Parts: sequence; C-alpha cells; structure tokens
Amino acid sequence: MSRPSSTIDRLLRAAEEVRGNAYAPYSGFQVGAAVLAGGRVYAACNVENSSFPLCVCAERNAVALAVSAGARRIEGVAVVGGSGRPSAPCGGCRQVLAEFAAPDTPVVYATPSGERIATTVGALLPAAFGPEDLKEAPAGSRGSPEARAPGKRRSAARGRASRTSGR
Ligand code: THU
Repeated sequence: MSRPSSTIDRLLRAAEEVRGNAYAPYSGFQVGAAVLAGGRVYAACNVENSSFPLCVCAERNAVALAVSAGARRIEGVAVVGGSGRPSAPCGGCRQVLAEFAAPDTPVVYATPSGERIATTVGALLPAAFGPEDLKEAPAGSRGSPEARAPGKRRSAARGRASRTSGR
C-alpha cells in the first residue's frame, strides 16, 4: 500500500525529532521511530539501560505507545538512525511491527542526513510467525483450565514451550 509522501515525510520528521531524546549512553547509537495508526503519529526513541539486555529499541517503544493509546493497526513506519547508512529495524522489532501491521505496510528508514530506504513490513519479515500459527496448537496442549482462566491468557512463548515438551 503506498502512502502519500506527505504522510511518510510527517513520520520521518516525527522520528527525527524524537531521536533527539534517545537515551543511548552505552551504544551512542540514537534511534527515533514513528508509527501511523488511526491517522495519528506515535513517536518514540530507544531507551538503554546499564543492564544491557533491558535496552529497548525505538520501534518497539513507538508500537507500545500506539497500542497503549488503543491502536491495533499500524499503517506506516519511519525510523531514523545510523550515520554511514540508514539502519533497518532489527529482527525483534520486525516481529513486533508484523503483529500490528499488514505485510504491505510501508516502512521507511533513513539517516539523519536524509538518505532513505523504502520497503514494507512483509519485505522485512517474510513468512512471519503470527497469530494464525497459534491456532495450530492442539486443544490438549493448551495448558490447565487454571491457566486458561479469564484474565490469565497464555503467552505465545508458553504455548510453544508446552508443545515442545509434548504436554
Ligand atoms: N536500536 C533501535 O532502537 N532499533 C533497532 O531496530 C536496532 C537497534 C537501538 C537499540 C540500542 O539502544 C542501540 O540501537 C544499539 O543497538
């Protein structure tokens, strides 16, 4: 799905602006990301932590912002980061984007100096794992009745673990 360039420019501007707030004292690698959902732009930066595995990417923070505002459908993505070349969303962020965006959703990633690459969520993550895959789980492997109690939904990770162990 192609978007008017003004929408992409709006997303890029938002990503570039929020990149200035990046908390990246360990890597020094500042990233800004913006997603379009329901006509609104949600922008966020990467937030690092002295406990390195807890660093969170800009894309994931932007998705969390949109979802927390009630959005469930992402219609466009822009990422600004990198210097020598535009830095593409990492693998984990591609999976998180694919949860809320159709394969034809446009993604633009750019350097702060304006070099940009345009692609789509589907091109970045072909053959993505998705909600449909969870429907494959046999009924007997879905955990105890307690685990299925309202308000205690299983995570995808737990579902896969129980499949693997054959329970
Ligand atoms: N980072 C992002 O924000 N998005 C990506 O897609 C890749 C990496 C951040 C995480 C970390 O703060 C820094 O860039 C270096 O990896």
